[in-house]
Parts: sequence; structure tokens; C-alpha cells
Amino acid sequence: MRVLSGIQPSGALHIGNYFGALKQFIELQHSYDGLYFIANYHALTSLHDPAALRAATLEVAVSFLALGLDPEKATIFVQSDVPEVPELTWMLSCVTPVGLLERCHAYKDKVAQGLPAEHGLFAYPVLMAADILIYDSNLVPVGQDQKQHVEVTRDIALRFNNRYGEVFTIPEALILPEVAVVPGLDGRKMSKSYGNTIEIFDEPEVLRKKVMSVKTDSTPVEAPKNPETCNAFALFRLVAPPEELAEVRRLYLEGGAAYGEVKKRTAELMADYFAEAREKRKELLAHPEQVREVLAAGAARARSLARVTLDRAREACGIW
Ligand code: ADP
Ligand code: TRP
Repeated sequence: MRVLSGIQPSGALHIGNYFGALKQFIELQHSYDGLYFIANYHALTSLHDPAALRAATLEVAVSFLALGLDPEKATIFVQSDVPEVPELTWMLSCVTPVGLLERCHAYKDKVAQGLPAEHGLFAYPVLMAADILIYDSNLVPVGQDQKQHVEVTRDIALRFNNRYGEVFTIPEALILPEVAVVPGLDGRKMSKSYGNTIEIFDEPEVLRKKVMSVKTDSTPVEAPKNPETCNAFALFRLVAPPEELAEVRRLYLEGGAAYGEVKKRTAELMADYFAEAREKRKELLAHPEQVREVLAAGAARARSLARVTLDRAREACGIW
């Protein structure tokens, strides 16, 4: 079974990205042939500063490695290092109905907001389909927000196969559990676009300040509270050991939980949780050539897989 997923390089990764996506990638690498890449072509649809894009690409690669994606187990690479992908994108475009793309939310939302949409944003799901199909991926672990794009990929693959014969493996989305939706400082979903993030690699002091500022209500300490709707608890549960979690849950339900205490403890636990990764990241940043080596090896393997599928697709549709 082959598992593939990508993350756009759009800045430092936050703990929503970790608990919602990366953590699962890291666990899956032990059971599957995993391919994980940095979707820098996708980022071109929204990130227009070349230096920032370059830096963010390296940052995500460093984060992957620091957090425990193991190049001995998984294939880690940068999307643009596999030029077969944009080549396949064109062939897929030629079987993709415009209506299918018009229904995709990233494009639709932008148009609804009255913003000018570029062709890249419109065609984004076709590029994503090429990413997935070119490696004969079976499973695509993604958050709920990307589910539609995997469905579009399936649609495109079926249309191509219908027209030209069995060329592509039909992938399935592995939807990462909703439980893992991490709230941001203001209680909305943690997201770069809301500016409410806690970064994975924040130093303990920064982390503490951010966690202390998490929005909570004004229920008094003694009053019972609902842990399921509390932002502080939602962050606490991500990093708390089981007994401590049970104890704090009890305090919520029976009364006696102080938000300030829960936040303070969350910040401590979170700083510990990522301590090793923070150190690893510093080492890697000091040796970017090692990261580039890993990416080059990953790209070589990815390309060798991509070539086979691309040749099959070219042959099937009559490109010489
Ligand atoms: P952002 O919303 O900050 O731009 P992305 O859309 O780039 O984040 O997310 C990359 C990955 O991280 C996706 O798989 C997404 O589902 C996951 N993810 C992002 N934010 C969260 C969150 N708050 N909770 C859980 N998972 C998240
Ligand atoms: N579009 C995805 C996102 O924004 C990133 C991505 C690009 C991806 N290609 C992919 C994810 C292929 C899974 C499979 O999060």
C-alpha cells in the first residue's frame, strides 16, 4: 500500500498542522510505503514572494525531519523536483470538465469574495490529482478541507481510465479524525490565515505567552465546565498524559478547574512535547546541505516511480 500526502510551504508550521496532519504521516510511515512532499507549486497560487517561498520550502523539509519523518522509511521530496508532475497535469487537464473545477471550494470561495482568481487556483485540483496519481498512491491522508480534492482526483482518474484504459490506480482519502481539529488562540480553527497559531517550534517562553492568551470564558473556578467546548482543554488534551487528562477532566465536570492553571500546565507539557524536535531542527538548520541531500534522494526515488506512470499515460493517450 502506498500512502502519499503533501503540505504547502506557506510559513512556519503550527500545532494544528502537527496534530492534524504531520503526526499521522509520522505514524503511517511505519506501516506503509509513504511519500511526503512539499507542495511548492501549489504555494505559487498564494505566496508571491520568491525568497519567502524558498525559505518556507526548506522550513517544511526541516520540520518533517525534525519531527520524525525518517528518510530511511519514507520518501521526502519537493514537488517541483519531479517535473513529470506538471507534464501529467496537462494530460489530466484534458479530461477534466470545467464544471468539476468550478465546484471546488478554494476557487469558489475566492470568486464569491469578489477576488480575482488566477488559472493556477482554478486548476489547483488537477495539479493535486497529478501529485497523487503519478505515484500510484492508494491512500491520501488529508484533513477534511482536502477531501473534495481527493474526490476530484478520483473523478479525473476514472475519466482518464474510461477514455484510455486502465492507466491510473484509484486512490482513497484517509480523512484524518475530526478530533484532531485544533483550536487557535481565538477559539476558531487554528489557521495561518486567521493569525491565531501556536508554532510547533516556538521557544517555551513564546509558547507560554501564546497559550496563556487562549480564549476562555468567565466561568468561576468552582463551577462545573464543559471540557468539550473549552479551548484550553482542547490544547491540554493534545499533550497531557492519560492520568492527568482524566483528573483535569474530572475537575472540569465537578468544578474546581482553573483556566489559568490548565493553560500553564499545557504550555509546560507542550514545550516538553516538542523539546527534542526543537533541538533537532536547530541542528538541521545548521546543516542545510544534509537536508538538501535527503530531498535529492527523495526526488530521485519519486521520479523513478513517476516516470513509469507518466510513460503509461503518454502511451495510452498517444503522445508518441
Ligand atoms: P492553514 O489553515 O494554517 O493554512 P493548511 O491548510 O496549510 O493550514 O493545513 C495543512 C494540513 O494541516 C492539512 O492537512 C490540514 O488539514 C491540517 N490542519 C491545518 N490546521 C489544522 C487544525 N487547526 N487542526 C487540525 N488540522 C489542521
Ligand atoms: N492541497 C494540499 C493542501 O493545501 C496540499 C497538497 C498538494 C496535497 N498536493 C497534494 C495533499 C496531494 C495531498 C495529496 O493542504
